Amino acid sequence: MSESTREFKNPVLNWIEYRLPIFSFIDDSVGTKYPSPRNLSYWWNFGSLAGVVLVVMIGTGIWLAMNYTPHVSMAFDSVERIMRDVNYGWLIRYVHMNGGTMFFIAVYIHIFRGLYYGSYKAPRELLWIIGLFIFMAMMATAFVGYVLPWGQMSFWGATVITNLFSVIPFFGDAIVEWLWGGFSVDNPTLNRFYSFHYVLPFIIFALVFLHLWALHVHKSNNPLGVDIKGDEDTIPFHPYYTAKDAYGLGVFLIVFMGFTFFAPNFFAEAENYIEANPLVTPAEIVPEWYFLPFYAILRAVPDNFIDIWGILPVIVSAKAAGVILMFASIFVLALMPWLDTSKVRSARFRPIYKQVFWIFVLDCIVLGYIGANPPEGHFLIIGRIATAYYFFHLVILIPLLGKFEKTRPVPESISAAVTAAGSEEERK
Ligand code: HEM
Repeated sequence: MSESTREFKNPVLNWIEYRLPIFSFIDDSVGTKYPSPRNLSYWWNFGSLAGVVLVVMIGTGIWLAMNYTPHVSMAFDSVERIMRDVNYGWLIRYVHMNGGTMFFIAVYIHIFRGLYYGSYKAPRELLWIIGLFIFMAMMATAFVGYVLPWGQMSFWGATVITNLFSVIPFFGDAIVEWLWGGFSVDNPTLNRFYSFHYVLPFIIFALVFLHLWALHVHKSNNPLGVDIKGDEDTIPFHPYYTAKDAYGLGVFLIVFMGFTFFAPNFFAEAENYIEANPLVTPAEIVPEWYFLPFYAILRAVPDNFIDIWGILPVIVSAKAAGVILMFASIFVLALMPWLDTSKVRSARFRPIYKQVFWIFVLDCIVLGYIGANPPEGHFLIIGRIATAYYFFHLVILIPLLGKFEKTRPVPESISAAVTAAGSEEERK
């Protein structure tokens, strides 16, 4: 990195800048020197919102850790102590608990925004894939975090999910024991999950840094999905998008604090306020809401489906097929830049994609609903259809649409879309 030539009015800033050009770095990244598309809508607020929640989660998490005891005989009580005796402990815990939910809400909207506007397409493929790594790290963090209060759902959730690794051929059972650090979910498991839960958010932080680095190379996509052609297409990030992001943050915080103060256990599971008991299995083991669509996919494969293939049961059981499908449902998203063959990025100019996008959103909601219900009767049938549609949409429909869909005329540039010439073109 070279020496900075940037001059600031404040001599202290100048002194630091000359030695460590941090102020020009900030200015170039989120300041007056970062040109952003002039037409970004509120859907572009969710990246920064996710960033804010990440910081809130790390902050509250560190304070919780000061009072939490990662031992099977004390974990549950230490959380109760945080709620009752630690000064503002109830607030710190409720912000952290509801922060998890708000984090996933922000990131799910962020992902679906990317799908709608084709933000994963060249040259932003790696930005998208880094995003998926962040998503997986978030899921791992949330999963191990949920085990820490050592309630019934903590214990049984951990037991069910870690057991999934037993489907790995030959080494499955050994891997599960290795994960547990023993012959069941117990103190060593709680200890290592605590350790992971502490470190993973910092790994997410580093990934977010890479995510933003990749973002800043080609800048943000925008609702029209066209590339920036010149200065007339951009406005400086500060003050325009700092103001817009701040407004969005205000609204977001109202919702966040609404839940935290008025319905703090809205997303919580009553069963988790009962201390973990390895001798009593809850009637239903349900994960947190943000895992539900994946949980539905996991349980979608019927035993007899495997049987009709005759040879398959030897290689793969229904349980293993469910696990493979569940992981595939995330990995297939990483292929989106190549599965989507359409030259047009934004759904705004893709009349059919625009419709099937919403069907896909509905399909994911249905999967979530199925994940929350027992795997029996019509829930199973609907879950299987919704799972099949999930993959049909991504692997078959999207590539075909890219080839056969008749798209609407795309404006030359962002500014051309609002000038007379551009609008004329679009009306045709
Ligand atoms: C901790 C989680 C995350 C944080 C803090 C974060 C942060 C951001 C920020 C600040 C932006 C720019 C503003 C915006 O476009 O909203 C952005 C853009 C983007 N992010 Fe993320 N992100 C996260 C997770 C993800 C995930 C899980 C994905 C996808 C799987 C993803 C995909 C993208 C894409 C494709 C863009 C460019 C969007 C565009 O320009 O249209 N991000 N991210």
